[in-house]
This record gives sequence, C-alpha cells and structure tokens, in this order.
Amino acid sequence: MQYRTILRTACVVILLATQSVAQSQSSTYTDIYTIPPLSAVPTFTSPLAISTTISTGPNLSNGLAQTPPMGWSSWNGFGPNINETLLRDTIDTIASNGLMEAGFVYVNLDDGWQHYLGNRLDHPLEADPVKFPSGIKALADYAHSKGLKLGIYSGPGQTTCAGYTGSQGHEAEDAKLFASWGIDHLKYDSCCAYQFAPKSVVQQVILSMSQALLASGRPIVYHACHCGWADSWEWAAQYGANQWRIGQDISDDFDYPGNRMKYFFDVLDLLDRGNSLAQFSGPGHWNDYDMLIIGLNGKSQHVGAGCSNVEYRTHFSMWAMVCSPLLIGSDVRALSSDSMETLTNPEIIAISQDLLGQAAATVGVGNQDGGTLQVYAKAMEDGSYAVALLNRGGVTADMSISPQRDLTVAWDKYTVRDVWKHETTGPYDTPYMVEVIGHEAKILRLYEVVPNATMPLP
Ligand code: GLA
Repeated sequence: MQYRTILRTACVVILLATQSVAQSQSSTYTDIYTIPPLSAVPTFTSPLAISTTISTGPNLSNGLAQTPPMGWSSWNGFGPNINETLLRDTIDTIASNGLMEAGFVYVNLDDGWQHYLGNRLDHPLEADPVKFPSGIKALADYAHSKGLKLGIYSGPGQTTCAGYTGSQGHEAEDAKLFASWGIDHLKYDSCCAYQFAPKSVVQQVILSMSQALLASGRPIVYHACHCGWADSWEWAAQYGANQWRIGQDISDDFDYPGNRMKYFFDVLDLLDRGNSLAQFSGPGHWNDYDMLIIGLNGKSQHVGAGCSNVEYRTHFSMWAMVCSPLLIGSDVRALSSDSMETLTNPEIIAISQDLLGQAAATVGVGNQDGGTLQVYAKAMEDGSYAVALLNRGGVTADMSISPQRDLTVAWDKYTVRDVWKHETTGPYDTPYMVEVIGHEAKILRLYEVVPNATMPLP
C-alpha cells in the first residue's frame, strides 16, 4: 500500500515534469531529471554488514561477457545531448586512435536516444528522428563495419530516469526491436521507476527483459542497472544479467564525500562499497562500479571537480583489479595523451580481462594505518597475482607486499612486475617494499620463481 502511494506520487511528479517540458520549448534535461532526495534513497549499510548470500533463481545465462565489457557510454559526458554525428565521430575515434585495439569495443547509447518524453502508454518507443535521422540500425551497421558494437538503453518503467518512454508492458517487442537493429548491449535501468520497489518486483522486471532478450535470438549483453539497491549482486546473475551497478552514479571525484549527500559516489566510496562484494563477480556476471571518469576533467554532466592524472590512473587500475566493466564516460575525441596512456595500458587491461575473472578485494595487511593504506590482490589464470598497493591518503607512504604473509602462498622467491613502470625486478625472498605517493595505486604482478624452471616474463 505504502509502495503504491510512493509510486503514484513519483508518477505524478514525473508526469507533471514531463508536461512542463512539453509546454516549454526551452526546458532542458535538468528540468526533468529528478535526482532523488537523499532521504528517499535507501541507505547503505556498512560493507561488512552486507549479506553474502547468493540466492537461487531462474538460472538464466546468455553465455556472454566472459570478461568485463569494455567500451564507451554517452551518459556522463553528454547526458541526453546525443546525436548521430556525435556517435559516428565517437565510433571513428575509437576505431582509429588505439582504443579499439586496446579492447574498448562497446559504443553505448545511454538515455536520451528516444523520440518521446513521457509514458509508454502514450508513446511508442522509437529513435528521435532529429537526433538520429538515419535510425539506430544504420548506426549499429556503422559500428559493426568498424569492428565495434552498439549498445542501447531502456528501462522497465513507463519512463526512464531522464523521463523518456520506457519499455513497460512491451519487453518482448522492444527486445525484438533491439535485436532487429543489431544491438549488442542493453543497459536496462530500473533504478528510478522501481527505486522503492520490493526486491521481488525488481527481480520480476529484470527477469522479463532477460527472457525477452534470450527469446530475441541475438546475443545482447544485459546490464541490469539498479544503482546498487535491492542487493542486485546477490541475484542478478541468476536472472541472466551480465552486469549490475553496486552503487549510485559516480561523480568525477577521487575522494569527495560531500557529493554523496547529493546522491553521487566518488572513487573511494565505490571501492569500499565493492570490497565485500567481490565473490559475486565472475565470468559472465560482473559488479559494475559505474562508468570511468578518466578524461571528464570536471566536465561531467553530473557533479565533480575532476581528478589529477595520478587519481585517474588509480581509478582505472582499481576498476581493472575489481573486474568492473570499463566503459569510458568522457569525450573520446578530446582525450589528452595522459588519458590515452592510462586507458590503453595493456598490462592493466590484461588484469581486467584475465580469464579467471577473479575480482580483487583487500587482503592480508589490507588495512594499514587506520585504513589509509590498503593492499588489494587477485589471482590470475597463469598462477601469478595482481596486487594493488593503494594509498588513499595524501601523504607518501612506504608500502609492502609479501606473498607468504598477504597472499598465503608458499612461494620462496618471486619477481615483481610494476605494470605502470613496465619493469620487472627480483627475485625477492623478503617482502617487496615500495614508496607510494598520495592517491596512487602501485599495480604489481607477482610471479613465483620456481627452482630450475624458466619463468615466463610478461
Ligand atoms: C541513472 C543511471 C545513469 C544514467 C541515467 C540516465 O541515473 O544510474 O547511469 O543511465 O539514469 O537517465
């Protein structure tokens, strides 16, 4: 009863906002995109209190996304101000500047590609003919001709988060439409329309589209986006999702808790949020820490003052360590050489795309110095370990890693590859010590030195 009342109130608010947009030619996205007041957003418990239950469910799987999806998404850089020219330019840029070779293949339209603002009851779902005069199929064909893939966005409500027509009641029809257009990735966003819904209702709407996508016959990676609510990580994989958000929208900040009061999470917030959720991530189903902020430089559609190059590098490295999807959120046509160097480091991407698919979490002496210094680790398919020595504070610190102490392996000797310096040192038989500057993450690959064996170096 209470849920119905809240839902009805939300619908009225959206309807009124939509009508006011229809009446005013000069209204913009900010007029209709309602960020929920903090009091209305379910509060997060401490990561340690999060349930670790993996629930049973319908056990659906499309077999896709065996490694975390990599690509670009339009939302954080452009909001709903997207169009065919921007998308074609983005496709051309990614296909030619080294990003595609590095593994970034999904070019994802987020909210705002649709023709109509307002309820699905009143409007069909179709592409905005002014923004996309050639239609979405032509865009998908274009992406495919360049070796890339095209993603699209919808949601299970009457409207999406930005107030555009959603898929409610038309799941099978929309899945078929997306398949006929050649869509490769769907972000299906329940976080606004179903923000207050009980978990069982969210599960049902995620399931409807999951089944519809499977029935469409086209391999479409399925992002069940619910902003970190309803414990999606516990069940979404069972419902056929390849990724799900573990938190609210990312702000363009490394460490600025003030923005959480405005609904946004910074890099450290999201890392803390995910630290106890690593076990839910794995091949085909990933914890999504939200889009990459590298290159936004304070120009996000949302909030955030931007980050230093070291902070963006740490953010990218850590998203790779925790196996988050890597979707660039900035304007790829304007990436600096520093941003390009960060985004295309093959050794970081190898950590993200490792076939074992183990998401890193803090280990061993994981919380030194009151939690300012953290050690994250993940096992790699070749028997090595990827390690992040993360200095969350602003002061340079000496940090160490010991395989026996922190990884609980019985290695006597090991070598260390610094994947930002591209340098291998060792062998070591004592803890490896290194200086880590403020907000830096030293990313290392540790290889056991096996007596009388030739160690393959990367
Ligand atoms: C929600 C999502 C964002 C984006 C917008 C679009 O806020 O969390 O990532 O998709 O909706 O309206």
